[in-house]
Amino acid sequence: MKYKKIANTDLNVSNVIMGNMRLTQLALPDAEKLIRTAIDEGINFFDHADIYGKGRCEEIFSEAIHMSPAIREKMVLQSKCGIISPEGYFDFSKEHIMESVNGILKRLRTDYLDILLLHRPDPLMEPVEVAEAFEELHTSGKVRYFGVSNHNPMQIELLQKYIPYKLVVNQLQLSITHTPMIDSGITLNMTNDQAVNRDSSVLEYCRLHDITIQAWSPFQHGFFEGTFLGDLKRFPELNQTIDRIAEKYGVTNTAIATAWITRHPANIQVVLGTTNPERMKEACNGAKITLTREEWYQLYKAAGNIVP
Ligand SMILES: NC(=O)c1ccc[n+]([C@@H]2O[C@H](COP(=O)([O-])OP(=O)(O)OC[C@H]3O[C@@H](n4cnc5c(N)ncnc54)[C@H](OP(=O)(O)O)[C@@H]3O)[C@@H](O)[C@H]2O)c1
Repeated sequence: MKYKKIANTDLNVSNVIMGNMRLTQLALPDAEKLIRTAIDEGINFFDHADIYGKGRCEEIFSEAIHMSPAIREKMVLQSKCGIISPEGYFDFSKEHIMESVNGILKRLRTDYLDILLLHRPDPLMEPVEVAEAFEELHTSGKVRYFGVSNHNPMQIELLQKYIPYKLVVNQLQLSITHTPMIDSGITLNMTNDQAVNRDSSVLEYCRLHDITIQAWSPFQHGFFEGTFLGDLKRFPELNQTIDRIAEKYGVTNTAIATAWITRHPANIQVVLGTTNPERMKEACNGAKITLTREEWYQLYKAAGNIVP
């Protein structure tokens, strides 16, 4: 496992993160096995959100790991707030942020979060209120560092104008089949759909400002439309290319899909959503591989993208 320091923090974390969104699919002993596999593979970073399983995923996690202060100290815990589900709206009010964090800490059975992310931008947010909430959370010791998820550069700038703490993470959707943050830069000023800048150059912005990018849904295409791995009907050329490269390295397709993300020089972290311990091991193996430049481009093109 490779580790990196998250810029502007003292956190030294694995470049593969265990995502806990799907934990309700597992019985408790299976959840224990999955988390044990993650730890054995060297993963020390765990991603949560208050809405995963309506809070149940955080509870299952702390139950499965038999959370205690000694265990807590060995891991980096991140969670997110700001989505109101199932009603379907966003809430960055101070009241909601405070209430959400208190619930997260209770469910995770810990006194503090290492990182709190604002889950999805709330157009009705008052940055001053967010700043007040962050100030209270930080001074009370409940949250050490702050970040965002699914935010564009100007939304980050707006928050950062009021928040005295550096936002250290932006969690964004990225897989070989979901690459808007890369596409527009490659096809700059062209008139095809790939050239549309959908995120105000968020990749370059995060690199410029030392904000760590975390890739969510690394094996999914579309918005939770299923995995592209092994989907020969929709992604025949991509799977052929993945399988050829996997054979060269003696690994599985999951490993290559992971390696494609970690090959990027922005040190992007991969947030794994698998509930399968074997697949988790395969992905961790992939994070150790450095694809050649040519292989990285071959995979990008095989997903249907143009390299002009
Ligand atoms: N910030 C955000 O807005 C946001 C949004 C979504 C997710 N997240 C975070 O990102 C994490 C990962 O998201 P995700 O779960 O969507 O990512 P993912 O790892 O791309 O997808 C996992 C799902 O794909 C299946 N899968 C993976 N490889 C497969 C294969 N080769 N064949 C068949 N099925 C395969 C897994 O099944 P198995 O379980 O059987 O392996 C699982 O159902 C979440 O846990 C959460 O922490 C964040």
